[in-house]
Amino acid sequence: MVTLLCIAVLQTEAPTYAKNVASVLNRSCVPCHRPGESAPFSLTPYAEAKKWSSMIALATKRRSMPPWSAIPGHGNFEGARVLSPTEIRLLELWHQTGAKPGNLAAAPKPPRFTKGWQLGEPDLVLSMPEAVDVPAEGPDQLRNIVIPSGLLQDRTVGALEFRPGNARVVHHALVFLDNSGAARRLDAADPGVGYLSFGGPGFFPSGSLGGWAPGGTTKWLPDGVGRYFQKGSDVVLQVHYHPTGRPERDQSKIGIYFSRKPVTQLVGGISVENWQIAIPAGDSNYLRTSSYTLPRETTLLSITPHMHLLGKEMRARAILPDGTRRPLVWVKPWNFRWQETYIYKPSLRLPAGTRLEVESWHDNSAKNLNNPFSPPRPVVYGEGSNDEMSLCIFEITTDRIEDLLFTIHDNGVQNRVMERIRLLAKPKG
Ligand code: HEC
Repeated sequence: MVTLLCIAVLQTEAPTYAKNVASVLNRSCVPCHRPGESAPFSLTPYAEAKKWSSMIALATKRRSMPPWSAIPGHGNFEGARVLSPTEIRLLELWHQTGAKPGNLAAAPKPPRFTKGWQLGEPDLVLSMPEAVDVPAEGPDQLRNIVIPSGLLQDRTVGALEFRPGNARVVHHALVFLDNSGAARRLDAADPGVGYLSFGGPGFFPSGSLGGWAPGGTTKWLPDGVGRYFQKGSDVVLQVHYHPTGRPERDQSKIGIYFSRKPVTQLVGGISVENWQIAIPAGDSNYLRTSSYTLPRETTLLSITPHMHLLGKEMRARAILPDGTRRPLVWVKPWNFRWQETYIYKPSLRLPAGTRLEVESWHDNSAKNLNNPFSPPRPVVYGEGSNDEMSLCIFEITTDRIEDLLFTIHDNGVQNRVMERIRLLAKPKG
């Protein structure tokens, strides 16, 4: 109905900001494109949006904005940042007809954004112990800040909120757990605040509390599902900083919300990865495949595709025991700067014996503008910025904690924290 109306409007008169465009920009762009946020310019009010009308038309037509690399129809995700073809056409037409204001007095107002914690006062707030200085220019940085949690007893976490200290310079953030001391050692070896890495955090995390990207909303895990947070763990905040053209300083913090309802299911991660990577120089379509068969019935919560600068596209699907294929995600074109954790809406239940299949394509030709080498050189597997990866992380839960342990253990992940979870799984008494 809405679509039909829109088309009718497009056919009869030039679209205006007030009548047609403001609502689209407010919903899909303004959460990031407003003063003080991560995007480099504001798309509200009208005068700002008008200045950028040609770029708006171009970026939305190319699908580079809003940032969201998952192709619609391959998995249903929470908070999908997607414009409909009608909306993309509308923005183009608005630009072509002179980006008219219309009756500005009647234009929809931008949404009100919560200033404080979105979910109310957290149970535990952890701040970066020192501010990070980000130089005006230079490459993006992934900085890992180690924060001792001071947690005195094991808890389960139902939600996490990340609050950037300086949203202009924070591109996204991930929150890992470490109970091995490895992150502290990496921190001690790096002269800066925290330590630098590329891709992963540089150690094998004992858990994860989730991630944050601008414009997103904070959500609770489903009732009864929690993330295991072991006492004494360090929290490792991995923040992706993007230089803004002037020196910036950031001191971010996280708010942790313990589960409100009794937790019967824990969240675990499995990775489906191909380490055998050796991409010849000049190869523009290098394919890697990997798979993992779920030994137990599993509920899929989210999927995080991961490649480096030669990544081109990644596709994952589930092959059920009866042969049914279900698309899990198709990321194309891969955008290294917008690595996303895609949260399934609703979660996907997959029977035991389901095979998770992952395919990734990599471009090591000179045509790939992100290629770290010019002219191209052979590139092999590795964690470094000039290496390549083909990794897909699935966050899962199972009805019984034993099944989670079995599934994760079978995936080859040797995890010390699992021993403690095993204790939780034992019936009390
Ligand atoms: C999740 C945050 C976010 C949302 C939502 C978003 N942008 Fe952006 N936008 C950015 C950031 C950050 C940049 C800077 C470049 C980058 O980091 O990719 C940017 C850059 C741009 C640029 C510069 C050229 C380019 O393609 O990089 C344009 C134009 C743009 N955005 C338009 C839009 C429009 C139009 C929308 C809504 C339809 C939108 N953006 C939604 C964060 C966002």
